[in-house]
Order: sequence, then structure tokens, then C-alpha cells
Amino acid sequence: MKNILFVASEGVPFIKTGGLADVVGSLPKYIDRRYFDVRVVLPKYRCMSQEMKDKMEYVTNFYMDFHWKREYVGIFAAEEDGVKYYFIDNEFYFNGFKPYGEDTLFEIEKFAFFSKAALSILPVIDFRPDIIHCHDWQTGLIPVYLKERFQGNEFYRGIKAIMTIHNLKFQGRWDKKEVQDITGLPDYFFVPDKLEMYGDADLLKGGIVYADAITTVSETYAEEIKTKFYGENLEGLLQARATDLRGIVNGIDYTDFNPTTDKFIEYPYDAISFRKEKSKNKLALQKELGLAQDEKSFMVGIVSRLTDQKGLDLISCVLDELCQDAIQIVVLGTGTEQYENMFRHFAWKYSDKVSANIYYSEPMSHKIYAASDAFLMPSLFEPCGLSQLMALRYGTIPIVRQTGGLKDTVEPYNKFESTGTGFGFLNYNAHEMMHTIREAEALYYDKKREWNKMIDRAMAVDFSWKVSAGKYQEMYDWLKP
Ligand code: ADP
Ligand code: GLC
Repeated sequence: MKNILFVASEGVPFIKTGGLADVVGSLPKYIDRRYFDVRVVLPKYRCMSQEMKDKMEYVTNFYMDFHWKREYVGIFAAEEDGVKYYFIDNEFYFNGFKPYGEDTLFEIEKFAFFSKAALSILPVIDFRPDIIHCHDWQTGLIPVYLKERFQGNEFYRGIKAIMTIHNLKFQGRWDKKEVQDITGLPDYFFVPDKLEMYGDADLLKGGIVYADAITTVSETYAEEIKTKFYGENLEGLLQARATDLRGIVNGIDYTDFNPTTDKFIEYPYDAISFRKEKSKNKLALQKELGLAQDEKSFMVGIVSRLTDQKGLDLISCVLDELCQDAIQIVVLGTGTEQYENMFRHFAWKYSDKVSANIYYSEPMSHKIYAASDAFLMPSLFEPCGLSQLMALRYGTIPIVRQTGGLKDTVEPYNKFESTGTGFGFLNYNAHEMMHTIREAEALYYDKKREWNKMIDRAMAVDFSWKVSAGKYQEMYDWLKP
């Protein structure tokens, strides 16, 4: 039996801001329990729902040296679908209205505290991991601390660390002196082949340098990040560590996302009954959102963080033109004000055709996955992307830019061979995107049989965790034979 510890800043169902939470909350469930004991450490945020807090039980507390202070570390525990979770409690750090705040320096201090605490609780909870599986910059200091101060303690010697990159854009970067002050790491860590990044300190970089293995969430993204365009200034390091870097595509939880049993949708359906039932969900959503009610009109869904990553400037370029077509666009998302307002504006201008839902809602997201005919994701970059996998599962045809995980999970339509599960375009270009949307639209209106066959293929692909969980297991076994 091997012990694996996941450490991350978010995880479903306790707290979620994006796909990271879906992965952290679902992957551990699908790792084979006969061979692996997987546990998860998360912060105990004040902004977690009361329902989730009620699931947690207080374990104990102690004080830890951190940033020239003695900091309180509370431990709570819960079990969810057979997976054991631990929560680090500290009201000073995890007190915000959201998991993440705007003040980068405080974020760095918060997650440096979290990383050190996650290591420090291990003897207390009596769980010695063989491998600590770290996720994103918030946990980048764990491999560093593990190879540094914790080496002095027998308990930690020999523990391996994996760093999984879900998004290279966010690195936890700040002035070297201040980061040194917070972390208490000696000078020699702040040099260019360790944590230093153009004069700053970079926590994700530390994680990548000190981890025994590095993964990212699709094979294409694993290649892309070794290039200048996608590398976010870490391409050199990632090239240097290429033999330890691999891409493992994400899965989604096929129990939570299942059109046959989904409690959030009015008309459940499967790979046969979608022909009748799917459009009933569309009518219901049109009614709920005040769009023109017509089960025949081509509905395109978008469920997304509204940020630059997601390619929304392409949409803003051509939405006026697109709205001349027989099309409906339903957006659910929050993010940058510029994009929130862009969608609000179009919803005002084309009230029959565009619905802008600028909030976060799990139920509404499921309704959109179920009701839409197509799902638009024109990302500038996309490490993996889960929304397109959810769309496929619900027989909603993805229209994507062929980058990162979108390239690996959506097979573009080939009209000559009648293959493919979606539509793709290559260049980051608004008219290329529009052309592709129109191709989809034409197929939908003019060749319904072909369209439905594409839904058959989309619903038949398998992006459950079955295959990818196996790949993580192989890696755990390889690291700790
Ligand atoms: P990212 O992690 O970059 O945001 P992913 O596609 O990997 O992108 O994951 C996004 C996840 O967040 C999906 O589960 C998607 O359904 C969900 N999501 C995004 N925005 C919202 C929202 N406003 N309401 C509900 N779910 C959302
Ligand atoms: C990040 C990426 C997204 C990926 C998710 C889970 O948020 O932006 O592409 O699917 O992490 O790995």
C-alpha cells in the first residue's frame, strides 16, 4: 500500500473557483484503493458553505514557526466518497470572502503558510505519504521545504514530490527579499537555477525545480509550455526538465456529470433519447432566461471564467455579425469587468438572442451543458479544459481553438469521412472562429442526420478518469517502486 497526499488550494465539493477543484475533488476517488491510500489537504476557508463546514470535524491544533511568528494551525477532517480530507484552519490567512484575493504579497504569504502547515501536520495526523502530489503555484513551496528544512527530520526523509501544473500563467511571483522574509529560506535558494525569476522569487518555479516529477494536464500543453509563446518565461527550465515532465489529460467525474441522472436538468436523457429530450431542455432554458422560445434555433453555450485566457476578445470582435444569424448565445461566467460588461451589452442589444448570466452557479452550468447544441471555447491557451469534456458528455458539440487540452480532447469534424466530435480552428483569429461557428451552424440546420451522428460520437467518447487515473498510478509506482 502506498500513501499519496494531495495538497491543493481548492477541491470539489468543498470549494471551487475553476477546473483545479474538479480535478482535486474527483481524481482521488478513481485511484485504486487496493494499492493507494490517497488523502487530500485543503485550506479551511471562511467562505466555504456552512453545509461543507458542517461535514468537518475538529481534530487538534498546534503552533508553528512562520514569518517570525508563532502561527496557529488548526486541523479539521472530513470524509467524502471514501476519501479522507484534512483542512488547515487559520483565521488570519483564510478569512476572505473568496479563496483568492488581489494582494499578491498576501496571497504568497497565505500559501507559504499553507504549504508549511500541510507538511507540519503529517506527524500529527500520523500519515506519512510516500508521495506528495502538489497542485499549482500555491503548493510550489512544498517540494522546496521538503528538500530543505524538513530533511532534518527522519519522518520526512525519502518522501517524493510531484508538481502538477494546471496553469502556468499563475506562478506566485514577488520581490525576492520579501519572499525570502516570509519563507525563511536561506540566500542560496534565491538564485536563477532555483527560485529566482528575473530578480523576483517565483514559487511555482521552486516547485518545478525541486519536484521529483512534473506533470501537466494534457500532452499538447506539456509540449507547448516548452516553447516561448506558452512558456511564461519558464520554457528554459521546462526544457531542461523535459525527461521528468509528462502530460496526463484530465478526466471528469462521470457520476456528477451524467445527463441520465442529473438532478439539475428538467429532462434527463441518454445517448438514444437525446433526439427528443435535449431540445426540451433548450425550451425550458429559453423560458427561464427570457430568450425567444424556439426549440429549433441553434443555441451556443459558454460556461467560463471571463478572462483573457478564454479567448473572449475574439467573441467581442464578431458577436454583432454573428447575431445576424439564427443563433442564440447563453453565457455563464464571472471575471474581468471588461468581459462581463461586453456580454451584458450584447444581451441588452440582442435580448432575444443573447443571455448574459454574470454569476457562479453549478445548477445553471449543468442546464447550459444540457440545453445547448454547441459549446464555444476559443481559448488563447488551455492547459486541459474541463468544460468541453462536460459538453461532450451532454452531447453538446464543442467548438474550440485547437490548443492544449482542447486539441487533445476534441476531434474536428471531417465531412468526407463523417468523423469527429466537434469543430476546431487553429489560429487565434476572430473570423476564423466565426467561420467555424458558421460551419457548425450549417451542419445543424441543413444536415440534421449528420449533426445527430456527431452527437452520437461525442457522447460515446470516454473522458471519465478510468484511463488517466491509471497513468497517475503508473507514475506513483515509477517514483516509488
Ligand atoms: P478553468 O479551470 O481554466 O477555469 P476548466 O474548463 O478546466 O477551466 O474548468 C472550469 C470549471 O468551472 C468547469 O467545471 C465549469 O463548469 C466551471 N465554471 C466556470 N465558470 C462557472 C460559473 N460561472 N458557474 C458555474 N460553473 C462554472
Ligand atoms: C486550469 C486550466 C484548465 C484545466 C484546469 C484543471 O484551471 O486553466 O485548462 O482544465 O486547470 O486542470
